[in-house]
Amino acid sequence: MTKRFRRFQGGPMLEHQWTGGDLTTFVTHLECSLTGEHYPADTLQTLSKAGRPLLVRYDLDGVRRAFDRATLAARPHSLWRYRELLPVRRVNDIVSLGEIMTPLVPLPRITPAEGELLVKDEGRLPTGSFKARGLVLAVAMAKELGVETMAMPTNGNAGAAMAAYCSRAGIKAFVFCPDDTPAVNVREIAMQGAEVFLVDGLIDDCGRLVAEGEKAIGWFNCSTLREPYRIEGKKTMGIELAEQLGWDMPDVIFYPTGGGTGIIGMWKAFDELEKIGWIGPKRPRMVVVQVAGCAPMVKAWEDGAEHAPRWQNAHTFAAGIRVPQGIGDFLILRAVRESGGFAIAVDDDAIARAWAKVAKAEGLLLCPEGAATYAAYEQALADGRVRPNERVVLFNCASGLKYPMPEAGTRLKLGGAIDWASLVSSAAKGADRTG
Ligand SMILES: Cc1ncc(COP(=O)(O)O)c(C=O)c1O
Repeated sequence: MTKRFRRFQGGPMLEHQWTGGDLTTFVTHLECSLTGEHYPADTLQTLSKAGRPLLVRYDLDGVRRAFDRATLAARPHSLWRYRELLPVRRVNDIVSLGEIMTPLVPLPRITPAEGELLVKDEGRLPTGSFKARGLVLAVAMAKELGVETMAMPTNGNAGAAMAAYCSRAGIKAFVFCPDDTPAVNVREIAMQGAEVFLVDGLIDDCGRLVAEGEKAIGWFNCSTLREPYRIEGKKTMGIELAEQLGWDMPDVIFYPTGGGTGIIGMWKAFDELEKIGWIGPKRPRMVVVQVAGCAPMVKAWEDGAEHAPRWQNAHTFAAGIRVPQGIGDFLILRAVRESGGFAIAVDDDAIARAWAKVAKAEGLLLCPEGAATYAAYEQALADGRVRPNERVVLFNCASGLKYPMPEAGTRLKLGGAIDWASLVSSAAKGADRTG
């Protein structure tokens, strides 16, 4: 096992951490996010009796005594460096594809002179998206708890990550996506070993099918926030960000929000980090970014509501954030309000412009959802909700290469003379048109 990890992580393992098949974990119990009711860890759980997500709780005093920043600094650069704050108990249940630390990429050419704008580029993770973080934990725990078949609804990236990790874990996977999910997602899900179904509806319609199948067949339902461990994986985005910034917090985080696992996970991470004494009370303002065609959280935030009713006729080309309703709505809104942040919607045209602008000016091809965060940043700068001198982190949640891009390329026929002057001037015009 140790050898296998060494191959992925490219660095020396702390041998003693991985021998004997056991990891030191500090999980004490699970807790209903609404009522606080306790549930036992180490048994298969879905939602609480109140129908709400369960959160994993740890003996944080124990973590504080056993784990320090110097120990952390010596570890390989992977998600597993935070294992004391994760729930997996047995090394053999970890089904790693190499969950690296993702870089914080500055955007020097489009950042206001006195500010700092960083992109946390999650597209570098296995299966090309941040869904790897949540699903590597969900599948490891499913394996640990004896699950043989899993199913989930997806807008693409989560299904791809579940398919990949289930194949490695020897778990059968069934994935349901809306029938207009980007083709590359559908095909990668199938290539990575899952059965994939295209449904003539939205992600919550797919979720209903998964729930029906759960009753009919008994597969494990891995829908967003319906099992407790995806949040724990997504939590590592917050821990990693804090570590990369020298245990300081940015002023603002812009997060493209669908089901909200990432924002809920990061908020939980910051709380746990403060309790183990690694950060102080300062928090970033958490900004929920949605699209004008599907903005249930923005509406709820503006209305001062605790829950977000289903958004009708949801539409946008940023597929990952086309989520009409989320079971963790109140947890997302809590993070936004407690942090003094806000929720903001941008339209598809602004996303397309932002997508092209960042790619052309900085050479960084975001995914459309990541581009939405830059469009929202521009809007918030203009209306004064973010100041130009602040340190801001945008989340790019997937590789831009997974999405259909505008057609490009000028055809050249060999054999004839090429008019080099007009070739260069039309290329320059092309740059003007789209720049
Ligand atoms: C690229 C991308 N961005 C953002 C999201 C939304 O993530 P979350 O469920 O954490 O809100 C998704 C979810 O599918 C996604 O694929």
